[in-house]
Amino acid sequence: MYPTHFIFLLFSLLIYAFPPPSTADYLIGVGSYDSTGPAAGVNMMGYANLQQNTAGIHFRLRARAFIVAESSGGPRIAFVNLDAGMASQLVTIKVLERLSKRFGKLYNEDNVAISGTHTHAGPGGYMQYVVYSVTSLGFIPQSFDAIVTAIEMSIVQAHQNLKPGSIAINTGDLDNAGVNRSPSAYLFNPPDERARYPRNVDTLMTLLKFVDGTSQRSIGAFTWFATHGTSMSKDNTLISGDNKGAAARFFEDWFTSTVTNSTIDSDLIEIETDEINVFINRATAIKATGGQPCGKTTSQAFKVRKRKSGFVGAFCQSNVGDVSPNVLGAFCSDSGLPCDFNHSSCHGDEQLCVGRGPGYPDEIKSTKIIAERQFLKAVELFTSAKEQLTGKIDYRHVYLNFTDIKVSLAGGKTASTCPAALGPGFAAGTTDGPGAFGFQQGDQKINEFWKLVRDSIKKPSDYQIDCQKPKSVLLSTGEMFIPYAWAPAIVPIQILRIGKLVILSVPGEFTTMSGRRLRESVKQTLISNSNGEFDNDTHIVIAGLTNTYSQYIATPEEYEQQRYEAASTLYGPHTLSAYIQEFNKLAESIVRGRKIITKGPPPPDLSSVQIKLLLDPSGESPPPGINFGDMKRDVSIPKSGSFSKGDKPIAVFWSPNPRYDLLSEGTYALVEMLQEKRWVASYDDDDFSLIFKWNVDNGSSNGFASLEWEVPDTASNGVYRFRHFGSFKRTIVSTIEYFTGASSAFTVS
Ligand SMILES: *[C@@H]1O[C@H](CO)[C@@H](O)[C@H](O)[C@H]1NC(C)=O
Ligand SMILES: *[C@@H]1O[C@H](CO)[C@@H](O)[C@H](O)[C@H]1NC(C)=O
Ligand SMILES: *[C@@H]1O[C@H](CO)[C@@H](O)[C@H](O)[C@H]1NC(C)=O
Ligand SMILES: *[C@@H]1O[C@H](CO)[C@@H](O)[C@H](O)[C@H]1NC(C)=O
Ligand SMILES: *[C@@H]1O[C@H](CO)[C@@H](O)[C@H](O)[C@H]1NC(C)=O
Repeated sequence: MYPTHFIFLLFSLLIYAFPPPSTADYLIGVGSYDSTGPAAGVNMMGYANLQQNTAGIHFRLRARAFIVAESSGGPRIAFVNLDAGMASQLVTIKVLERLSKRFGKLYNEDNVAISGTHTHAGPGGYMQYVVYSVTSLGFIPQSFDAIVTAIEMSIVQAHQNLKPGSIAINTGDLDNAGVNRSPSAYLFNPPDERARYPRNVDTLMTLLKFVDGTSQRSIGAFTWFATHGTSMSKDNTLISGDNKGAAARFFEDWFTSTVTNSTIDSDLIEIETDEINVFINRATAIKATGGQPCGKTTSQAFKVRKRKSGFVGAFCQSNVGDVSPNVLGAFCSDSGLPCDFNHSSCHGDEQLCVGRGPGYPDEIKSTKIIAERQFLKAVELFTSAKEQLTGKIDYRHVYLNFTDIKVSLAGGKTASTCPAALGPGFAAGTTDGPGAFGFQQGDQKINEFWKLVRDSIKKPSDYQIDCQKPKSVLLSTGEMFIPYAWAPAIVPIQILRIGKLVILSVPGEFTTMSGRRLRESVKQTLISNSNGEFDNDTHIVIAGLTNTYSQYIATPEEYEQQRYEAASTLYGPHTLSAYIQEFNKLAESIVRGRKIITKGPPPPDLSSVQIKLLLDPSGESPPPGINFGDMKRDVSIPKSGSFSKGDKPIAVFWSPNPRYDLLSEGTYALVEMLQEKRWVASYDDDDFSLIFKWNVDNGSSNGFASLEWEVPDTASNGVYRFRHFGSFKRTIVSTIEYFTGASSAFTVS
């Protein structure tokens, strides 16, 4: 026996006797489901712009989830990253109800977190408090159901996929994906505190990499990084996950194509009457097929493209309050000069001061650039992640009545939070989306006219006016209950723990410095109460906009200036101090292994009193002599005879309102490629390069869908065509009918 063999055998024996550190420390599952809501005529959540109604899809919205359990019967947590403006109390309540029907007590308010990405380009109407559903004309069941179902399904998938696996964590700095949009407010924070940080925004990205214990292949990755979902502007009408959603799409597609080297699954939809007449060299000889029924009666027919790898990549929001993705800064749209520093206005007009993304003036390009920066940083952290998470899974959750939390301040003083209220700086909006009522950020006075308007709705109590100082109360939302509560009073806070990772679920948007104070205080509490279980290397992550939404949380110093974030800090100057105090109680109970005794008052379920003013579409028919799915305008072939990379072929189809069926996990739009004698799905409406727009012809009731494809550099040369899918009801009581149509073929070379 050669010595090397001997050593090898000995080595093998040693491994057998003493296996390497376990690579399956937890049970892990991931899931993902389409949450795209109504793509026509529904107000978008975020900018509160009455004119900003959906009119198509840039790419789809999703709920992406992971579950981590210590063992099959042991403690577990479920975390959902939701492509939406924010979490919603009512969504959370209904998701938990559905989970309890399926799984009993396994998933509940304590161990489930639902965190919004803060895209401002998703359909609204899924929130229960009045302030958040004014511009959507109240509650919109279709928006709501799409979101609740997607979250539920993402958790169900993750649960069904639970398998032994390991988790690696990695962190790194990304310094060109966010700027502070209220730098003058940041300067109110103490100089010695500011001096401890290189920037006025947080640049840290934290990534979790989930690895299957058997195959050693990654099944998913979640990152947290703070930057607003406002790369798409307040004039955009296309549903979009904004920079976070796009980063997720890029990451998942990268993993699918590069790491697993598998292609994206393309199941052909067979259409019986579709005769393919192949003239590769004379592509235009393949004529448009015209509108025709699909012969299928469910939206299942449209599930054409599944991303085969099953890999879930999610980009989660953090302490995003004052962080804008419009990194070129804010400028006056009349003069091109920088805006007034303290008020973000241009000679007194807040509407002229608008932030610019790196792709300015192209918002889609800005979205892509900010997404790519996050995606590339995530890839870097993903491929170099080494630190393994081990140790306990744990969680704590309480509801707090923020109306009057008693807060102990430094120097033995006490103070109280207030009923919710908004100041004039809220109405001013931000440089990402200015308001419309003539207010400026930093305004602390309200003129007689607006006082009259305010008092006609609800005069704030003297207690409230005093409590909120130095904010002037423009809307005393915490004292407004007609027709139902305008703002939340009860909000949840939650801590989730995976070994040395501690996730703080916050129900709003902490500013940069607020987030730092919260993280550091909690870290200190964990370290000082533990026997080494937590130390300086413990990772603390803030999960923003989680479980419910209560707007902003500025520091007391920032609150002095009353810019947008401070004017939207609902519960008064001591809001942040109250959060820090209450989170520290949860942190202490985690370290000391104590259960929570007082779980706090549960939030109300206001589903039965919601006002719903938006009508459903009904009774549609195409123009006389035309079928839905017929071409309104076929692809116009360029003089050269074919399209090049970067060109934008467009096809327009007669099409009813897309709200009849959201085609969840399906598509309204396809670009198909001719392969042999089959049309193979190549791009769908979840792809960044393919845009589905829906509109109504001026002065008529006939809708049409425009499919626009910007031929990507990665597209293969060949013969392509557009395919459109839709559905309609002839009358309110008719059953739903599905149709499809295809454009003429065209070549890309
Ligand atoms: C990926 O697959 C293609 C086609 O099967 C092959 O040519 C290529 O070498 C593969 N790449 C890697 C990195 O495995
Ligand atoms: C902004 O306001 C601060 C105090 O609130 C003041 O010191 C500073 O001069 C102002 N800056 C500008 C550019 O107006
Ligand atoms: C929250 O606190 C306020 C003030 O103490 C009280 O009026 C209100 O009833 C409380 N709400 C709940 C649900 O406990
Ligand atoms: C703790 O970590 C921070 C940042 O990671 C570092 O600046 C500090 O020096 C560390 N403190 C100790 C006691 O190791
Ligand atoms: C619709 O028609 C009105 C009046 O003819 C015209 O002013 C407007 O620009 C048209 N809008 C579109 C989108 O074509």
